[in-house]
Amino acid sequence: MKDIKISIIGFGDVGQGVVQVLSQKQQTLEKLGVNIKVVAIADSRSSLVNADGIDLKKAVKVKRNTGIVGRRGSTTAEIIKNTDHDLVVEVTPTDINTGEPGLTNILTAIESGKHVVTSNKGPFARNYAKLMKAAKDHGVVLRYEATVGGAMPIINLIEENLAGNTIERIDGILNGTCNYILTRMGEETLDYQHALLEAQELGIAEADPTYDVMGIDAACKLVILANTAYNNNTVFDDVSITGITKITPQALELADKNGYRVRLICEVSEQVLSVAPKLVPKKHPLAVGGTLNIATIHTDLSKMVTISGIGAGSIETASAILSDIIHIYRACLANTR
Ligand SMILES: NC(=O)c1ccc[n+]([C@@H]2O[C@H](COP(=O)([O-])OP(=O)(O)OC[C@H]3O[C@@H](n4cnc5c(N)ncnc54)[C@H](OP(=O)(O)O)[C@@H]3O)[C@@H](O)[C@H]2O)c1
Repeated sequence: MKDIKISIIGFGDVGQGVVQVLSQKQQTLEKLGVNIKVVAIADSRSSLVNADGIDLKKAVKVKRNTGIVGRRGSTTAEIIKNTDHDLVVEVTPTDINTGEPGLTNILTAIESGKHVVTSNKGPFARNYAKLMKAAKDHGVVLRYEATVGGAMPIINLIEENLAGNTIERIDGILNGTCNYILTRMGEETLDYQHALLEAQELGIAEADPTYDVMGIDAACKLVILANTAYNNNTVFDDVSITGITKITPQALELADKNGYRVRLICEVSEQVLSVAPKLVPKKHPLAVGGTLNIATIHTDLSKMVTISGIGAGSIETASAILSDIIHIYRACLANTR
């Protein structure tokens, strides 16, 4: 049995989802020959460390009852650097402009020789190349499947299953909130404001929906896909972005009459980096409704591969994080053979 000691930095929806999944999947992990022990958890104001393994159910209960997970006093950087462990799960909030606090957390982890798994897009928006180089220089692995498409395993698909293919283009819907709003505007002839309000009431859109509806969230995912597919040092400012706020129900009605849906489409190729509302034929695979994410990868050998899945949710995102942890553990085992 291989013991992996991990920390969870950020203990909100995703951090708590990871804890739930680890508890739920203990037997599965045992069968895989891995014992994942959480030795540190941090939130914005406190931290909890136990070298023997944290009682996860108790940690969630304490967080829910008190708003903090542990004791105040240590900084997140101190927890990452000074706790003896192998891998950091970085799940703090996304800031696309500064990348913080995730950027510093990830670099601190890498520089102290720890592998990193993250769902946080912010650090990659302007620093993908820097982060990957730092990981390589320090001989650790940085994985980020959960940053794009939640549970939809698109990064693995590009890096592993389609390895050897030339990726000609990726077209996708990578923001479930926008897709929900556009779907509802089309179905019920709702105007944008009403559809947004409905999405907010259902918890699909945030109170401040700017990142989503302006196309910023999708653009950040597109940056990550471009770097994964082409290793071309794409940064956020390279992307041409148009959001969905100016779309009218009349435009959707006209599209419908002519056999089309309007969807916020991300297009990634070596020449094009664009997020914009586009007409999609109703029978096209990308004409999905609701909050689903979907992407079609166009390649030279495999031709078209389409993948779809749930783009958000604490357990779905934790699923991608768990798969990254298992991947790192397998790679480490392979290296020690
Ligand atoms: N939720 C999803 O479905 C989903 C899907 C894909 C990707 N993501 C990404 O995953 C990340 C986490 O999402 P989430 O929904 O879990 O966010 P969240 O519920 O807002 O939780 C964020 C957590 O990070 C903590 N935090 C903030 N600053 C910190 C710092 N400096 N040091 C340590 N902890 C800090 C917060 O502490 P407090 O508890 O003290 O506030 C909170 O526990 C985000 O980057 C998000 O974009 C989320």
